[in-house]
Amino acid sequence: MTDLELMLCAVEARKMSYAPYSNFHVGAALLGKSGKVYTGCNVENAAYTPTNCAERTAVFKAVSEGERAFEKIAIVGGMGETIADFCAPCGVCRQVLAEFCDKDFKLILGNPDNLKTYTFEEVLPLSFGKSDLE
Ligand code: THU
Repeated sequence: MTDLELMLCAVEARKMSYAPYSNFHVGAALLGKSGKVYTGCNVENAAYTPTNCAERTAVFKAVSEGERAFEKIAIVGGMGETIADFCAPCGVCRQVLAEFCDKDFKLILGNPDNLKTYTFEEVLPLSFGKSDLE
């Protein structure tokens, strides 16, 4: 699966976003090492703090279906109908990804007209993870 194909899955997933409070709609597509794609969108809540980001929705779907090793994730977000030039994953989502992703895990950000790729190490250097608890 190419980076662009994965990003287009994120664009599709974004259409399911439930974001009546922020109107900021996010889609994510996570490629498992099995080759399966897990998509997610943000799901907001009237009490605000129970809101779940698109990236975590994708990770939790994957893990709950038995997949724990991942190759890359594509993320798109923006206000209303518009896909922004760039939507970075929040800190909480980076930490959730840290649990399951190697340092060479790739993040595909930007939008379908301008993809930018980063390694996990670049977006969360000096991370705390499971090896710290060994
Ligand atoms: N959001 C995501 O889904 N992913 C991120 O990494 C950044 C923020 C969502 C949460 C909330 O529904 C909306 O975007 C505005 O913060």
